Order: sequence, then structure tokens, then C-alpha cells
Amino acid sequence: MVDPTRTAAWRALRAHHEEVSDLQVRELFSDDPDRAARFSLTLNDLLFDYSKNRVTEQTISLLTELCEECGVRDWIARMFSGEAINETEGRAVLHTALRNRGDRSVTVDGADVMPDVRRVLLQMRDFATSVRDGTWTGHTARAITDVVNIGIGGSDLGPVMVTEALRPYWKQGLRAHFVSNIDGTHLSEVLRQVQPETTLFIIASKTFTTQETLVNARSARRWLVERLGTEDAVAKHFVAVSTNREAVVEFGIDPAQMFEFWDWVGGRYSLWSAVGLCIATIIGMDHFEELLAGAYEVDEHFRTAPLRENIPVIMAALGVWYHNFFGASSHAVLPYDQSLHRFAAYLQQADMESNGKSASRDGAIISEYTTGPVVWGEPGTNAQHAFFQLLHQGTHLIPCDFIVAAQSHNPIPSHQDILVANCIAQAEAMMCGKTADEARRELELSGLSTDQVTALVPHKTFAGNRPSTTLMVEKLTPRALGRLVALYEHKIFVQGVIWNIYSFDQWGVELGKQLAKAMVPELSGSEGEHDGSTRQLIAYYRRHKGSRT
Ligand code: F6P
Repeated sequence: MVDPTRTAAWRALRAHHEEVSDLQVRELFSDDPDRAARFSLTLNDLLFDYSKNRVTEQTISLLTELCEECGVRDWIARMFSGEAINETEGRAVLHTALRNRGDRSVTVDGADVMPDVRRVLLQMRDFATSVRDGTWTGHTARAITDVVNIGIGGSDLGPVMVTEALRPYWKQGLRAHFVSNIDGTHLSEVLRQVQPETTLFIIASKTFTTQETLVNARSARRWLVERLGTEDAVAKHFVAVSTNREAVVEFGIDPAQMFEFWDWVGGRYSLWSAVGLCIATIIGMDHFEELLAGAYEVDEHFRTAPLRENIPVIMAALGVWYHNFFGASSHAVLPYDQSLHRFAAYLQQADMESNGKSASRDGAIISEYTTGPVVWGEPGTNAQHAFFQLLHQGTHLIPCDFIVAAQSHNPIPSHQDILVANCIAQAEAMMCGKTADEARRELELSGLSTDQVTALVPHKTFAGNRPSTTLMVEKLTPRALGRLVALYEHKIFVQGVIWNIYSFDQWGVELGKQLAKAMVPELSGSEGEHDGSTRQLIAYYRRHKGSRT
């Protein structure tokens, strides 16, 4: 266990930061015509351009030394080998086995997990195909037209993000819906759009104990049984994805209609498992396997590439550089692609549930440095008209990732050129900024008086030097998306290693869940012990709740 601040590389990075923090990236480009190529990496059609970051060769060397000293190589090997690196839960971390397209065996406790992985993939293929070709029918023998995934957190965000991103691959006449929130509005709005006879519910829950998912699933079942008039209908309209067979049976789903996964798959890393059943049903199993293949390419790259040429490692290192040395507390992810409109939400769970930790691996409270940043974002160009002002001229330093595909799935004349121009130009503007002299000259040319020019110059000046990384792909295919997601997953892992935290547990979500469970009866009359504010809020709710809650 390595406290990163005690490494030689961390100390060197501190000193180096003093030296380079004023460097202007725009000038680094003028001094080095090869900078773009030297600070870019490629992986098949993916271009990872990190040249607009505030880094020199020395920065990258020191950051990779930090990775070496923190044992990144060793941790990568331990993860892929099936060691129980999720120590606080005593589990291996093997989402990579789910997309292992090679013939390498992967063992957990001495047993190869690959036969089970392949068995469930075949089960998914059979089922998804039968729904898509109409051989799987509902209780009244009608083909399925709507698939409703009921799940939350990792059992929702991955499936919804990928399904939305891959809309061009949807089968015509088959629609996907997602219900996650316990707010009755979410389920009601979906049920309003579907017909019981032609709707399939996939109940996705690793534990099959999650309150929101089970309550939503029970309400959906009641809706179905009331409308089709018999409990027998459940068999043709409900399937489950879980690690918990007993709970699935107790809910009333035949285990033959359960798609299994395993405790070595973390919830937020589970879209590659049977949790992806909804994705596979909507886009087809061949496309789902392309998604896995893209992730596998990244896994192989991550496992074997030298740290200096390893894209997830460089992504992680850049994040640490800004977060721990420049004090950047957040990181913006800006896909210039409408189909990635849930990408930031997905990444928020992947990153913040993984690295939002303040206990180190040896149990000490971390006080010398900070861990996981706030991750946020929205698709461009919309984001430009919302929060880009702050990115360009605000007082916070916020490193950005721009993500864009060269080709659109929906080419309308001129749209893609404008979209891509905006993406590239925003990154350029963030880096170059506009000096006071440039702003002054522009204002003078517009014919304003000297006083007006002087007053406006500070408001029209852009400091620039705002770091960004651009990830470009040829087209957002299932394979390209698989690559993209896997890059971020491994970035998160590397950062957790550097920060000396356990990235694969999530104890911090438990307390609120426990308190909410205990509070439900109090909202209908029973009494509990609380602070004044909590009592006041409960009392207000009781007075105003009405009779149908
Ligand atoms: O909110 C915490 C969490 O445990 C997530 O990590 C997980 O993805 C989500 O709940 C849903 O859990 P499950 O798949 O067991 O229903």
C-alpha cells in the first residue's frame, strides 16, 4: 500500500508543478511543431489527442513514474488474474472476463469462469433472438414490441446509456424503456406508452434486494396481471438478471428465465454481463458482441501497453495532475454526440461511486490529498449554450474531455461539419484564449470609443490555457462505444490505485438506504428519534401527503 504523497515522483511532481504551472500550452505548440503527434495515441480508429494539456515530456515521465511507484502495473496484473482486489467485499474484479474474446482462461478461486461466461452469452443470444424474431411471444401469443428494463444504478445507467447511444442499431418495431426511479411517475409514464400483451419486463438487479427495483417490479407485475387477468401471464412477460437465484424465485420468476451473473462483476461495471440483456435484445446479440469486442481491444491494450503509451493510464495520470497539483475539483465530459446524452450520467456512477472515498486501503483517513473529482457534463453543442461561459472565463480550472465521431449515423447536409467544427473550435478556444491586446484590437476595429474599449477589454479577454483532451472516433459503432467505455473504466481503476483507495466497493451508499427504510413507517404514523429538522420535514409531509401515497 503506497501513500502517493510519499513517493519520489509525487515530490518531483510538486517541484515540477512550480516550474511549469505558468507555461502556456499555446506557446508549447509554437515551440514544437510535432507536439500534437508526440502527445497523441491511437487505438485502431480512435485518436486520443492530449496535446492541449498543460504537460511537457517531463510531466508525462514523472506521472508515469508515479504510476510505477504506486504499483499500477502490478494492480493491473492482479485485477486481470482474478485476485480478490475488491478487498472490503472479498471479491475479484473481473468485468474484463465478460468481454474476454480470446481463449485465455480466467480463474477465480482456482476455477475457470469462462465456460459460465460463454454459457450465459449463448443464453442471452437465444433469448434476444427469439424476442426479436417473434418466436418468443407474450401470454396472448403476440410478439413483443416493448422491452422495459427495471433496475437502478449499474443495473440501469449502463444499459440506458448504451441503448440510447446505439439507437441506429435498434430493430424496427422494438422499443426500449427504462424505469429506475422509485418516484411513481417514472413507472407510470412508461406504462402509459406500452401494451401489456406486447411488453417484456427485464428485472435487473445484482442483489435482487434493491428497494426501488423490487417495488417497481412488483407494481409492474400487478399492472400486467390486472390487465391480462391471470398470474400465468408473468411467465411470458418477466425475466430476471441477477446473482441472487433465491430472491428471483421468491419474486415469482422461473429460474429458467433468469440470466445469471456473478459477484465478481461490480454493479457499475455490469453492462457487459447479462445486465446488458436489454441492450442485446434491442440492438441484437451480434452488435452486443461487437460492444464486448471493442472493450476487449482496450483490455488487451491496457494489460500490455507500456505505461507511457497506455491510453487509460495517461487519462488517469492527467486527471491526477490537475486534481492533485492544480487543485481542479471537477472534470467535465463533453460528448459532441446527441446519442451520448446519458454518457455523463453513466460516468458519474462509474467514477464517483468508485473513487469517492476518503479511507485509504490501510484504513487511515486521507488528509494529505484529495481523491475522486466531481464528474459532470452534457452533450455539445447544447452545453456551449449553458455552462461553457464558466469553462472559458470562470475562476475554476476544469479539465475537459471532448468526444466526437467523424461520421454521423444521421447525416443531414452541413450538420456534422458544424458539430465537429464546434467541438474542435471549443477545445482550441479553451487553449488559446484571447489576450487583452487581441481583445483591444478587435474592439478598436469595431469603432468604439477609447473609453468603451478600455471598459470592455477585461470582459472580452480569455485567459486560455484551459486543458482539454479530445477523443475522436470514425463512427460511434458498438465497437467504438465498447472501446470508449472501457477506457474510462480503466482510467478510474488506475486513479484508485494511485489514490490508494478501494475503487470497487460502495459502502457510502448504505447509510442513507438504511435510514430511508426505517423512516417509511414513520411517514404513516409511527415515531422515531430524529433531530429537529428531520422531525419538522416528517411532520410537514404527514400533514400534506394526501390519501393516495
Ligand atoms: O446504490 C448502490 C448500488 O449498490 C450500486 O452500486 C448498484 O449499481 C445499485 O445499487 C443497484 O444494485 P442492484 O443491481 O443490486 O439492484
